[in-house]
Amino acid sequence: MCGIVGYIGEQNAAPILLSGLKKLEYRGYDSAGIAVQEESGIKLVKKEGKLNKLNEAAEKELFNGGTGIGHTRWATHGRPSDLNSHPHADSFSNIVIVHNGIIENFRELKDKLSAEGQDFVSETDTEVAAHLISYYYKDDLKNAVQKAVSELEGSFAMAVMSNTEKDRIIAVRKDSPLIVGIGDNENFLASDIPAYLDYTDDFYILENQEMADIKKDEIKVYSFTGELIADKKRTKIDWDSEMAEKQGYEHFMLKEINEQPESLKWLLQDRLVDGEIDLSESGLEKDWLSNYNKIHIVACGTAYHSGYLAKYLLEDMLKIPVEVEVASEYRYRNPLVDEKTLLIVVSQSGETADTIAALRLAKDMGAAVLALTNSRDSSIARESDKVIYLNAGPEIAVASTKAYTNMVAAFYMLAVDGMRQKKNIDPQKVKQYTADLIKLPELSRQMIVQSEEKIKNIAETYAKKSNIFFIGRNTDYTLALEGALKLKEISYIHAEAYPAGELKHGTLALVEEDVPVVALGSRIDIFSKLFSNLKEVKARGAETLLITIEGQSYDKESVDYVIELPELNQYFAGLLAIIPLQLLAYYTALICDKDIDQPRNLAKSVTVE
Ligand code: F6R
Repeated sequence: MCGIVGYIGEQNAAPILLSGLKKLEYRGYDSAGIAVQEESGIKLVKKEGKLNKLNEAAEKELFNGGTGIGHTRWATHGRPSDLNSHPHADSFSNIVIVHNGIIENFRELKDKLSAEGQDFVSETDTEVAAHLISYYYKDDLKNAVQKAVSELEGSFAMAVMSNTEKDRIIAVRKDSPLIVGIGDNENFLASDIPAYLDYTDDFYILENQEMADIKKDEIKVYSFTGELIADKKRTKIDWDSEMAEKQGYEHFMLKEINEQPESLKWLLQDRLVDGEIDLSESGLEKDWLSNYNKIHIVACGTAYHSGYLAKYLLEDMLKIPVEVEVASEYRYRNPLVDEKTLLIVVSQSGETADTIAALRLAKDMGAAVLALTNSRDSSIARESDKVIYLNAGPEIAVASTKAYTNMVAAFYMLAVDGMRQKKNIDPQKVKQYTADLIKLPELSRQMIVQSEEKIKNIAETYAKKSNIFFIGRNTDYTLALEGALKLKEISYIHAEAYPAGELKHGTLALVEEDVPVVALGSRIDIFSKLFSNLKEVKARGAETLLITIEGQSYDKESVDYVIELPELNQYFAGLLAIIPLQLLAYYTALICDKDIDQPRNLAKSVTVE
């Protein structure tokens, strides 16, 4: 996701800013820019695309100044372009800012500031902050920033410079991380520790609602209400740069599991307007559901599992026929597709060869194509008619985690938006489901905290096994598929998922003393059926792990381990159930000492058939 850097000191700022941005490249971005204070004013260059384009442009500019800020942008408001890239300036080119996060009330602020005569040139929410700071600016940048942030809603980290106060950067943090690196007669600013580890290991980590007033020989930290935090603690970082990219986590996979609350927030925030789902940015009409009489969902691997879950959800909630198929099969048959078909392709990378081929096939046959993807400008994004960007941020580990949860959450949004369009649906129900969606980031955070230690213990046992079964019914079966895939791809332990009722038609023969069986029971409506299947495996000596909603009653004798999910409507609880399964795969593979982030034989982006 977006990255911020800043430098203030005796050296030429531009190369230091560019080297900081390079270190943040792993976060993913689609454009970048820097701004440097020069004698004649603030000089700014920004480019869509990779950093080499910015480097070339910056070289031509011959920057010469010791104070500057820079940014890598992962587009949310407005497409990737030179114009939408950061830094952004106010109408008088006095205030220049870079920003991570989302300003939720940017529409209202934009209307207000436009009425005051400010001209907006980009499609971004960030530009609003530049104009707002300018609106309050008299002669003290810190005061202006402080006034402006009191009006901003949402999550943001920002770095701000003014043309009239050279050699000063104001940095603010609300929800989105920001750190200040302490040097000798020079100081650094970054959204992420790796940016400047080559220059310093001494940092102030800004807390929520703190702001830093940074000069080359002085850093002062204040609260958003303006009180000086005189005892601000310095933090020494003893990470190497690889560890730093993982922000202290041993593996990217664990980092990405832990990022899920944040990435869910990113997905939802962008699509909630006045408490209602708004998918207009994705090109979906207000009444899109009425244009189609069936939906096909096509994807591979984990993305396919999200689509499989969505089949149950969309058919149940929208009463429209949904077919789901792996792309490598779909592309080599003659699917029944016409103009009334909505094809939904799901792909984290947006470059999966089979999914692209399936997309082209259905499009040629007249289907409208909606993509759920994490990658802007990917082939799938470009070739689809409509796109819901997953906003999960870069996913580095081969095993997909946060992209999967955002795929599932994106399908939840689609289902709720579709429900709204149906005549015979109680609007209160739509409201309730929307409110439930809003809870997902916080509930997923609780799920990680509550299940991690328990899962570590269970993993000790699982790491010694050679066969593990996952069972579930309805959406829980699709979670079982995903849980089994995660476990086998990184621990190399054989894992198999079965619809719980189907086990006795053959596979039950493999269940014997001590074979672990994970039973997914988030569907309360059919919990008793799932539990009968759990008892069947227990009767054959299986070691059982039950994942179900807290407060559910069952015969404790049949269950060896239990993980409870916070209470949530059963359509959406599955998203929380996947978290312990991801952790189970991770900790089992850790004990088995496997290459977790890059499992053998697998690639992150499968661009071949
Ligand atoms: C498993 C995994 C893969 C991908 C699959 C599709 O953890 O990541 O199964 O889901 O290769 O990739 P995308 O989503 O990029 O199309």
